[in-house]
Amino acid sequence: MPVPIIIDCDPGHDDALAIMLAAANPAVDLLAITTVAGNQTLEKTSLNARRVCTVAGITGVPIAAGCDRPLLQALAVASDVHGESGLDGPRFPEPTVDLVPEHAVELIHRILVNHPEPVTLVPTAPLTNIALLLTRHPDSAARIREIVLMGGSTERGNTTPAAEFNIHTDPEAAAIVFGSGVPVTMCGLNVTHQALATPEVLARFEALGTGLGDICVELLAYFASAYSRLWDMPHPPLHDPVAVARVIDPALVECVDANVTVELHGRYTRGATVVDFPRDPDRPTNAKVAMSLDARLFWDHMVDAVAALGSRPA
Ligand code: RIB
Ligand code: CA
Repeated sequence: MPVPIIIDCDPGHDDALAIMLAAANPAVDLLAITTVAGNQTLEKTSLNARRVCTVAGITGVPIAAGCDRPLLQALAVASDVHGESGLDGPRFPEPTVDLVPEHAVELIHRILVNHPEPVTLVPTAPLTNIALLLTRHPDSAARIREIVLMGGSTERGNTTPAAEFNIHTDPEAAAIVFGSGVPVTMCGLNVTHQALATPEVLARFEALGTGLGDICVELLAYFASAYSRLWDMPHPPLHDPVAVARVIDPALVECVDANVTVELHGRYTRGATVVDFPRDPDRPTNAKVAMSLDARLFWDHMVDAVAALGSRPA
């Protein structure tokens, strides 16, 4: 039986491919897409979610916009990584998929209480919507199967030396999620940097010979230029689809139990995920932390998803 999921995202180049993977892979049932401010403003991330669904032919999946700023601090978008549009690179047609009028938090809550089984939340963005869901609707927690998020790191950050972008953008929200008692799996930079979009990967998308395959090539080429310019990395890590891959097949992403604390007060470390791998089995743990990825199978799933979507009748 496919696992019911909701993606909460900030498209974003890697969010875009995470949506495609979730929409196409039969192991998951994408119930909704919700958007939040992060890589770009809420207006732009929401437009981008509509663009992705339009070019990928994803219909019948409600898209709802959520929070337009972090819980406490001001929003700082990542134009340097994702461009002014948040999805720079390809030219997109006018979207044919609209937003639903509900706020993302209300849509998620309504789905959680009505769906016949607990739902997995897959946040690939700052955790503002998820934190607000858990605080505004405490009854949600019992209806969440688990939260499999892209964010944090067991090593260095990418936004500051200590903090990864999704957690750094809204540390208070992340602290609420990790402290909620809901099962959390953290797919941090330490594992997403194993999902490198190499020229061989881009060639696989190009070889599909479909419009969607070509759009993915353009998205990844733009993403690669940003990673080369900003971090001198020859190939960009495709962060967000790793969280989806973990839900598709847990064997793809090996995890260990740990205790994750979000630093809120450090002058130089605010937004860091402090990951404690307890040696004492009786020490409390609050998360599974992803440590390794089967990159070959990951890319097989990613390319197969784009192939499946691209072959759908227009
Ligand atoms: O640090 C990488 C994360 O921040 C990804 O989710 C990317 O889309 C950005 O949101
Ligand atoms: Ca993202």
